[in-house]
Amino acid sequence: MNLFDVYPVFNINLQKAKGSFVYDENNQKYLDLYGGHGVISIGHSHPTYVKNIKEQVEKIGFYSNSIKMPLQEELAKKLGRLSGYEDYNLFLCNSGAETNENAIKLASFHNGKSKIIAFKNSFHGRTAATLNVTDNPKLSANINLNNFETIFIKLNDEKALQEALSKNDVAAVIVEGIQGVGGLDEATPEYFKLIADLCKTHNALFIADEIQSGYGRSGHFFAHQLADVKADIITTAKGMGNGFPIGGVLINPEIKASYGLLGTTFGGNHLACAAGIAVLEVIENEQLLDKVNQTNSALCVALKDISAIKKIKGKGLMLGVEFDFPIKELRGKLLNDHKIFTGASANPNLLRILPPLNISEEEILLFASALKEELI
Ligand SMILES: Cc1ncc(COP(=O)(O)O)c(C=O)c1O
Repeated sequence: MNLFDVYPVFNINLQKAKGSFVYDENNQKYLDLYGGHGVISIGHSHPTYVKNIKEQVEKIGFYSNSIKMPLQEELAKKLGRLSGYEDYNLFLCNSGAETNENAIKLASFHNGKSKIIAFKNSFHGRTAATLNVTDNPKLSANINLNNFETIFIKLNDEKALQEALSKNDVAAVIVEGIQGVGGLDEATPEYFKLIADLCKTHNALFIADEIQSGYGRSGHFFAHQLADVKADIITTAKGMGNGFPIGGVLINPEIKASYGLLGTTFGGNHLACAAGIAVLEVIENEQLLDKVNQTNSALCVALKDISAIKKIKGKGLMLGVEFDFPIKELRGKLLNDHKIFTGASANPNLLRILPPLNISEEEILLFASALKEELI
């Protein structure tokens, strides 16, 4: 059997990984500034992570949500405390798209409405409801075309948001903390406040998609918290498990649960919880939110000398380095000549940087040196 050929791949076969580095079969070392689409939060093979998962799988790796799960409760308590959403409830699932699918459905269950507001250049996943709020029609098949109504608004367009909500028929507004795939654009703090206020006024739910921008990556636990607002539903995945598939939907206590409303076989299993708890322990013990901001400052200072850089977008360690030329060739050189993984986005001129949150300054400055070698 062959693999279903949907991914263009680099000809690299990774065999091991440690901290901010990955190694191929010839023991060639690569600096990982991409973390497999922003997944690696606490570094590859972190000792706390390895220990938690190893010890857990020796005891019990999986059972479904038909029994008591103290590990889920431990994860929820820790996540509530570290994120500042202590009074919210947690629904666990397995991927980013699945968390958003559940969030959108939950909003509609809650207020009975079926129209959603999303934003231009958004990416929320590839399942049916999430595709319908993703601003990329190329990803949709014919079966996706007659889904619920979605209004796509330009990010930070206040008038369009007011107008779209004015008829009181919107179930939810879904917005990324910082746009990832779309190219690192973000709502201003004032706009996040407006979303929160208008959602309250018009009985719609504010869904913050923090799948990529969450878990400390922005220097806040969730990127929207920079605006000092609370979302009604927050979705998270990627960095939550540092590579172990896990997603979480954080839910305002006013949204009531009932048996059977949501469900999943694998979500919140013992191993996923062990991974998720390890990530939170490391974020707390290594004070990674502060560290992210320090590392961001060191990198931004080093990149200042490079005049080919037009703009640095994003926050913390979710950065887009924008040039006035397409980055395809530069990205290839970084990988092949400097052995540095970086990412791309919908913006052809933008390099996407999503390193582990505990990358050292020395390590991230290797990126600045490589850029200088290529561009100065
Ligand atoms: C903001 C955002 N939402 C949702 C998703 C979908 O996550 P997954 O690929 O785990 O389904 C992604 C993935 O890139 C994302 O960046």
